Amino acid sequence: MRKVKQMSDLPIYHNNNEEWSQMLLLYDSAIKEISTKLEILNNEFKLSHQYNPIEHISSRLKSSDSIARKLRRREKELTIANAIQYVNDIAGVRVICSFSSDIYRIAKAISSQNDIEILKIKDYIQNPKENGYMSYHMIVTIPIFLSEKTVKTKVEIQIRTIAMDFWASLEHKIYYKFEGKAPHGIRAELKECANIVAFLDEKMLSINEYVKEYAEKGVVNDMLIDVDGDTKPEKKKKRWRAGGH
Ligand code: GTP
Ligand code: MG
Repeated sequence: MRKVKQMSDLPIYHNNNEEWSQMLLLYDSAIKEISTKLEILNNEFKLSHQYNPIEHISSRLKSSDSIARKLRRREKELTIANAIQYVNDIAGVRVICSFSSDIYRIAKAISSQNDIEILKIKDYIQNPKENGYMSYHMIVTIPIFLSEKTVKTKVEIQIRTIAMDFWASLEHKIYYKFEGKAPHGIRAELKECANIVAFLDEKMLSINEYVKEYAEKGVVNDMLIDVDGDTKPEKKKKRWRAGGH
């Protein structure tokens, strides 16, 4: 059964509405800056290697209710200062790559940009979580230039393959269905699926390496590597599911 929101769950805002809106504007701007950087990298790759490492980019701004719940879980007062300090994923950008090798390529390219500061990295690909979850997470800051000041703003970037994303979205649904207590059998099946996902990603990567070898020899048309068969850099954006993550 779905949990009904209790009165005690309702947020008490210790700053006024305008201050919250200003804070959310910063995070929204940070999402835009990071998404643009990623699109530029993808377009550059497309132009110079006839290949786009990014399948799609999605983003979401955490709702104030969701920020409130997170602070409450951590037993912190609901203030802007605490949100900025303790909630790393108010701005979230998810990057879905074709191949596992693209994940590190994108992470490296983003990390080496002068205005980006890396605060934290969690590599759940090298070290998958106990449940099988795989993804590469970075918490970064990016400067947002306002009329009278510049504010370094945090963004959580999650980078994963299509197959890893497929697994994560199903696992997320199952987790919520069972309120975090899925039966052992289901958890075991999911873990097995995670192993299949890792195997599939490895296979796809090696097939792509073969294709590249053929392309270098001029045996296949370059366009075969570009799944879309599309030479113009284009924007690809999708919204995350509603309600944050
Ligand atoms: P939060 O989980 O956001 O409080 O932060 P954390 O410090 O645990 O960070 P972590 O990098 O582990 O997770 C950040 C985000 O990754 C989560 O909010 C989810 O979106 C995603 N994530 C982490 N673990 C899992 C998982 O086991 N399954 C799924 N589906 N997503 C996960
Ligand atoms: Mg989160």
